[in-house]
Amino acid sequence: MKRHHPSLISLFTGAGGLDLGLEQAGFQTLLANEIGPHACETLRQNQVLNSLKPTEFDAWFALQMGQRCYKGTNEVLSEELRSRIRSSLVDRSYLRGAKIVERDIRALSASEILELSGSRKGDVDLIAGGPPCQPFSRAGKREAVKTDTGKLFKDFVRLVDEVRPRWFLFENVKGLTLTKAPLARIHCRVCRETNLVKFEDWELLQVEAEKSVPCYRCGAQNASVSWENKSGGSLDIILQEFANLGYKCVHTILNAADFGAPQLRERLFIVGSRDGELFEWPSPTHGKSHGPSQATLFDLNDLQPWRGVREALWLNGHWKYGALKKEAVLWVKNVVRPHDEPVTWHLDRPSPTIGAHQGAKLTIAPIGVPEAQLFRQQWHSLGRRQGDTPPVFVEHEYLTDLELLKLQTFPENWYLFGTRMERAFQIGNAVPPILARVVGAAILAAMGRVRELSEVQTKAV
Ligand SMILES: C[S@@+](CC[C@H](N)C(=O)[O-])C[C@H]1O[C@@H](n2cnc3c(N)ncnc32)[C@H](O)[C@@H]1O
Repeated sequence: MKRHHPSLISLFTGAGGLDLGLEQAGFQTLLANEIGPHACETLRQNQVLNSLKPTEFDAWFALQMGQRCYKGTNEVLSEELRSRIRSSLVDRSYLRGAKIVERDIRALSASEILELSGSRKGDVDLIAGGPPCQPFSRAGKREAVKTDTGKLFKDFVRLVDEVRPRWFLFENVKGLTLTKAPLARIHCRVCRETNLVKFEDWELLQVEAEKSVPCYRCGAQNASVSWENKSGGSLDIILQEFANLGYKCVHTILNAADFGAPQLRERLFIVGSRDGELFEWPSPTHGKSHGPSQATLFDLNDLQPWRGVREALWLNGHWKYGALKKEAVLWVKNVVRPHDEPVTWHLDRPSPTIGAHQGAKLTIAPIGVPEAQLFRQQWHSLGRRQGDTPPVFVEHEYLTDLELLKLQTFPENWYLFGTRMERAFQIGNAVPPILARVVGAAILAAMGRVRELSEVQTKAV
């Protein structure tokens, strides 16, 4: 089928942050797969909004507000939602025509993907997605690729193998490059070749340590296996699986703040080319501010300073209740963190990474957070518990959906379905579209579909 835009199959779509950015770069999503019913409803309702007439809006909005997850939403927030979506009903074109497949990826076959998306094997331009990151996250249990959820990357690999897109984009947390995982290598005594053990053999060896693995090159049976508990071992295993499919892979860590997001959020990206094409990572457009005394650094590097929370969230830096004092901070309410990690952040800097579990707890504390409360929230290495000291009153207000969306660079008219916790979870799980957009543009540049990568990057910011 002849298409005007390069085609995209999206896996582990969540609330669609990665896809929005890739669509902004120029891709067209043909199919999106996600298991979460709330995230799928988010995607579906945004599709409904694409073709909703202004006269139909009030009925649609009343229906949404009548949903159980929106019960109890106060009038101010419901009005905020109403006006931000209603004011931009025209010119919406998100995931237009994409098939939303609400399903466990393990039960999704390549033939279904091809049929539903009207594609043929080898025709799709890009498969993109970020399998759940809990097993790899530095905040998680560090179970690496051993856990069931950690193995979902296999389904991404399986579908790339069977659909054979021209490119793939695999996104994950930076922790993947840091977590230790046991790597197994086979050393062949006949052909003398050493290879990383394939994941399917690696799994078997976990169960049956004495199992013999034949040499992948010459098939000799007497190859020996050695183990190494290596930092970044999970990434090595995943890269090896993609390389086994014949894709030429590159990987890097990109920080969303370096591309104009008002948030420090580092993500690992792996890009693979089926046809061995060259790929160049996008260059940062923003950089850490070194203060006025060294302002010339920006001229030298041609970078703009990182964007701060205050400027990104509120018109002229004015909060809805007026100007904020210098004591005002971003505060993650009652979340206990190691004593060397902050729980408040200056508003003139980018926000910290909005974690899926912490987004709903992010607040503005307009007159700061008392020392006694900071002490309560930082106990790990000092062996304290929050309940050991009496509660402290902190004036604060939770960030709204709109404010969280802005920190993540989603379009302001993006509708989210679910309770407040579920909505914050979807936003916190997402790739900032601004970051996805520059990576998508870099893939298009490598495909020869845009002339100048720098042109697209400049437009993105
Ligand atoms: C890190 S989030 C992806 C965020 C998304 N890329 C974005 O930018 O908004 C991972 C998603 O994988 C989904 N997921 C987890 N297990 C899955 C499975 N077995 N099949 C399909 N999707 C799954 C989760 O519900 C979650 O939405």
